[in-house]
Amino acid sequence: MKNEDIYFSGFLHNFRSSLQAVMVLTGNLKEGSDNKKISQYVEKIQIYTERMDDMIKRLVIKDKVELLREESDFSLNQLLKEVNFLQEVEPFYRDEIEKSFQLKCPHKINGQYIDFFQVVNNLFTNAKEAMYDSVERKIFIDTFCEENNCYFSIRDTGCGISEENISKIFNPFFSTKSNNLLTEISAGKGMGLTIAKQILESYGGDIIAESELNVGSKFVVRIPRK
Ligand SMILES: Nc1ncnc2c1ncn2[C@@H]1O[C@H](COP(=O)(O)OP(=O)(O)OP(=O)(O)O)[C@@H](O)[C@H]1O
Ligand SMILES: [Mg+2]
Repeated sequence: MKNEDIYFSGFLHNFRSSLQAVMVLTGNLKEGSDNKKISQYVEKIQIYTERMDDMIKRLVIKDKVELLREESDFSLNQLLKEVNFLQEVEPFYRDEIEKSFQLKCPHKINGQYIDFFQVVNNLFTNAKEAMYDSVERKIFIDTFCEENNCYFSIRDTGCGISEENISKIFNPFFSTKSNNLLTEISAGKGMGLTIAKQILESYGGDIIAESELNVGSKFVVRIPRK
């Protein structure tokens, strides 16, 4: 896969996740409403969002895809808070998972915000998905730094990863998640970590995973300071 293709499939992945959130919320709205007028509007929204999703599915990766690649300085701590905030549109994430922040890196990161947003969002999504069947549901979000690097880590108390699988999780299309509505409509099942790793490496950073089956997982990301 060429670098542009990775970026583009990452963009699609995120776009469809957001669209999917709208579709789920619209479905909830329809179920919870006895008002006829509202139900009619909701049905229309559903038709349009499904249409949009269909259009996205048909998008083919063209050779000349050029995505906006504007660089900026942004706060790592702020980015983590923003992704958490956006994840909270989903009731399971908002109500069932306890969050704990320890944000100790005061520095700014330089790069494309969208790139780092994708990395963080994929990690939060994985942490959430790992905890659907857990009794204890906690996510620990830390930032810290040293002279040349900034770090963040995301730890969950989810299902964990077996020793056999941990060497494969960054491979394209490796996934242990069964097919359901969510994975079917997401652009690249098993692509979340592949994309995250590619993006980080393009900035000279990296990502490592530690995990214990049935206990939880921790992903640590290093980003070089400029
Ligand atoms: N926090 C986690 N806890 C447990 N397993 C994880 C976690 N993060 C990743 N994994 C494992 O790594 C696999 C690959 O993750 P990745 O994000 O690349 O793909 P995915 O989540 O299956 O699909 P998607 O492309 O929608 O992200 C997952 O299927 C899962 O088995
Ligand atoms: Mg994923």
